[in-house]
Amino acid sequence: MNTMAFQTLRALADGAFHSGEDIARVLGVTRSAVWYGIRDISGAGFAIEKVRGRGYRLAQPVSLLDAARVQQALAGTPVAVEICDTLDSTNSRLMQRAAQGAPGGLALAAEVQTAGRGRRGRVWYSGIGHTLTFSLLWHFAQGARELGGLSLAVGVALVRALRAAGAPAAQLKWPNDVVLPAGKLAGILIEMQGDVLGPSTAVIGAGVNVRADARVQAAVDQPVADLETAAGQTIDRNVLLAALLRELSAVIEVFARDGFTALREEWQQLHAQQDQPVRLLLPDGKDIAGIARGVAEDGALLLETAAGLSRHHSGEVSLRAGGVAA
Ligand code: BTN
Repeated sequence: MNTMAFQTLRALADGAFHSGEDIARVLGVTRSAVWYGIRDISGAGFAIEKVRGRGYRLAQPVSLLDAARVQQALAGTPVAVEICDTLDSTNSRLMQRAAQGAPGGLALAAEVQTAGRGRRGRVWYSGIGHTLTFSLLWHFAQGARELGGLSLAVGVALVRALRAAGAPAAQLKWPNDVVLPAGKLAGILIEMQGDVLGPSTAVIGAGVNVRADARVQAAVDQPVADLETAAGQTIDRNVLLAALLRELSAVIEVFARDGFTALREEWQQLHAQQDQPVRLLLPDGKDIAGIARGVAEDGALLLETAAGLSRHHSGEVSLRAGGVAA
């Protein structure tokens, strides 16, 4: 969607009727520019009603991001937030900004990512107004080697915020997928810059499914859960973004000072497969069956097999028959 379409969407976001004339006047554009904006919004998947004499309205209001509101709700934290309508990937952008010397605590959120990235080289799909996609840049005195547990710590922060926002059943699937019984609620992608021995910089990216989006569900190969369905109410994405960033900065401060040790017990309490029979699919295609016994101080998955307790730093976990779906 181009700038005009976003402006039109913002004008209609409240779900009330707005005449084409009013929208044109407020935006300082022509009626035909508004018409193109409406056409593009429909093309992006929004249902729009048109009623003679009343104007246009969205079939369902949409909560769009507003940097001033998010920043206000982040008072007292070291986080400075920026919001973009469209960009390639918030992670890619913050990695570039980090290389140019951007300060720690810088957060970047986008309504649309044209090249959103997931873990293991996957694409991350998101729908406008339906997903929350953002990244947070953080500088650490430690090197990448000591930050092994960071991605798990970040998962703890997300679950805390998502439980408080209306998904009390949210849990973690190793290493850091946030899951509900219905499917995946949020994913995390962490990228690092710097020296192995330190200092280093992390870009912590998160994608949260806020509202069910048929296009996203059709594009991904696993079940997707969303926060509004879990909470049974509409979610203000600005409030949610601020809550996620507040929790993230609090958890990262603890992690930077005390390491993952301080968060390990909580991670295991939130672990969807704790003490369950699982299968770990390794990157080389082999798989190992065992009982998930939680995680080590460095974030490795501990698997109890016939040969004893083994530690794993990569792979995809799935439940074995008889376990509870997650
Ligand atoms: C995963 O579960 O595979 C991780 C998904 C991470 C997606 C987020 S969306 C914001 C940030 N920018 C990206 O390109 N990816 C992360």
